[in-house]
Amino acid sequence: MKVVTVLGARPQFIKAAALSRAIKSDTAFEEVIVHTGQHYDDNMSDIFFDQMGIPRPHFNLAVKSSRHGQMTGQMLEAVEAVILDEKPDVVLVYGDTNSTLAGALAARKLHIKVAHVEAGLRSFNMRMPEEVNRILTDRISDYLFCPSQDAVNNLVREGFRNYPCVIHDVGDIMKDVALYYRDKAVKPDVSLPGSFVLATLHRAENTNDKSRLIELWNTFDEISRIVPVVIPLHPRTRAMVTDLTAGRGNANFIVIDPVGYLQMVYLVQHCDLVITDSGGLQKEAYYFKKYCLTIREETEWTELVGRGYNMLVGSNASKIFGALHKFRSNPSKGFDDDLYGDGKTASRILAALKA
Ligand code: UD1
Ligand code: UDP
Repeated sequence: MKVVTVLGARPQFIKAAALSRAIKSDTAFEEVIVHTGQHYDDNMSDIFFDQMGIPRPHFNLAVKSSRHGQMTGQMLEAVEAVILDEKPDVVLVYGDTNSTLAGALAARKLHIKVAHVEAGLRSFNMRMPEEVNRILTDRISDYLFCPSQDAVNNLVREGFRNYPCVIHDVGDIMKDVALYYRDKAVKPDVSLPGSFVLATLHRAENTNDKSRLIELWNTFDEISRIVPVVIPLHPRTRAMVTDLTAGRGNANFIVIDPVGYLQMVYLVQHCDLVITDSGGLQKEAYYFKKYCLTIREETEWTELVGRGYNMLVGSNASKIFGALHKFRSNPSKGFDDDLYGDGKTASRILAALKA
């Protein structure tokens, strides 16, 4: 079976580390990897292929991130050309980025089957570009690989049982990755305090609105006066905070460049807790048994909130400090590990494709 995998953003490379490895070791499959070029800095792209042994993309479409319509349109045209040449049996896409939608749409219009890994997630916030991408991608997919029962339930509620597609609860492919790399962590090349909060920030809803961004940046600065804050900063956000004064000259507000996945595992393993708006990092906090404050109004990973491992705090400083105090003053009662499968998601996906 010939699979064309379309990817382009950091979390998709990390997911491919598990699935492309499984595909490579199964003689029933041949994989052609198409990198759209959405993420292009070395530390947002190449570093993952290098350190995680992901097969080099056969095609790099070099469509750098730009306005949504422009970027998605350029990817659509370029992916279509690859599919016409390669004639795959299935096109595989991950998650909810513009690369995901472009890959799925190009395939569907050519009557090629679409497999969506991380199907069924919903934030119910249609202002998020990711929510639009995931709903549209789900609707035109043939294989819906869901990470959780909640994701399956979302699809059933939306009537997907009436569509010609198959829905599988396969678990979270990022759990495969976390379990595989948990003993391979590498300390980042920076001086780290003994105790710190790990933070990341990149969502459009937090970075496009300058007053919200300033509020969050000031809050990180204030938190770092209680416990140091380490922030591997997404380039999108780096560009937005250059003129902000908060944190300047504060040695405990530690802003670093994006790091590789092995360094990120080290940071998650060694931090006190996580503050983030990242989807992937919310789950990694859970996999490495760390509490997480999510600086959003909603999350797709509702189970983590339900179990008390994750708190939705938005951008409100008093909510953030309340949650920080609660988690720091109540040492972990112990994390279970039964959510999002058992780390064998890749083999379940391949079995379903072969069936
Ligand atoms: C994208 C995804 C988001 C995902 C995130 C993962 C969409 C709509 N959004 O958001 O769902 O959570 O990736 O990280 O697909 N930039 C660079 N170098 C890079 C990459 C980006 O400088 O290698 C800067 C550019 O200024 C770019 C900006 O970041 O314009 C935003 O990049 P883009 O890919 O559009 O969105 P992300 O915020 O990365
Ligand atoms: N990550 C990384 N280096 C960093 C920041 C994040 O390797 O400097 C990893 C993180 O551990 C997780 C993934 O990138 O596996 C999450 O990607 P991101 O937050 O960019 O996107 P999202 O998951 O929100 O779509």
